Amino acid sequence: MKSIETKEALRGAVAEGRQSGQTIGFVPTMGFLHEGHLSLMRRARKENDLVVTSIFVNPTQFGPNEDLDAYPRDIERDKALMIEEKVDLAYLPSTDQLYPKGYTTYVEVKGPMTKALCGRSRPIHFRGVTTIVSKLFHLVTPDRAYFGQKDAQQVAVIKQMTKDLDFATEVVVCPTVREADGLAMSSRNAYLSPQHRKDAVVLSKSLFEAREMVTGGTRQAATIHQRISERICAVPDAVIDYVSVVDAVTLADLRTLRGEILIAVAVKLGGTRLIDNIQVEV
Ligand code: PAJ
Repeated sequence: MKSIETKEALRGAVAEGRQSGQTIGFVPTMGFLHEGHLSLMRRARKENDLVVTSIFVNPTQFGPNEDLDAYPRDIERDKALMIEEKVDLAYLPSTDQLYPKGYTTYVEVKGPMTKALCGRSRPIHFRGVTTIVSKLFHLVTPDRAYFGQKDAQQVAVIKQMTKDLDFATEVVVCPTVREADGLAMSSRNAYLSPQHRKDAVVLSKSLFEAREMVTGGTRQAATIHQRISERICAVPDAVIDYVSVVDAVTLADLRTLRGEILIAVAVKLGGTRLIDNIQVEV
């Protein structure tokens, strides 16, 4: 694996691959890698000649009171894991390189898609995500880019951006990887106290129950909403940010369940904000 720190070196390595006719698969991450990230790399390895990853804790997607400084980092461990997954190029840029002094350009998907769900409590988050992902798409020019269903709203927003801005990149969505008890893997799980780690299972448990309700015939979003909220509120320190039942593509709120639906939750446990979701076809 080649570790790359500058845009010039990245462009050079990508151009070399292109010249020899290689297809390029790209996995953008913020590091502190876990099985969720590695599943994307494995899929990219299977489907492409050249696998490029990036590790960059992107400051523009963190709000002023969020965990940018505390975000967990372990670059040496990440490098070893990427080598095991046979990544070809790991792009590890500095903040100054991607956002030099005087940086002023942002890419934003407007409207309900970025205002709903996580957008309500994280108003600038998706603008930061679409800005960095479009910068990385320009540098890497991937044929395919791999994202996790774990961040369902991020997937919807990036698909919209890719289509609207004519990126020649296929957005490939990979299933959520979970711990044995069902908790969705996340770099932020490292913040949880042992008690909150146990309590955190309520997110996936309530979502799996909701899926059974839907397959069992429940069609009212309010019924699903109420059941999930009750279960989460029964956990002493859990504070609900949102419980949403929405259309999986537009993220518009649904009253009656129809088509491909997304049931998504965000919950704070102690200081840690956790998200999870399931998608169900009605
Ligand atoms: P990060 O949180 O590091 O996640 C990188 C990728 O891994 C995302 O596509 C995310 O959805 C996926 N992922 C995380 N946990 C997962 C899990 N349990 N199962 C499957 N996939 C999982 O998402 C970001 O970084 C950033 O917003 C980024 C896209 C890199 C832009 O800065």
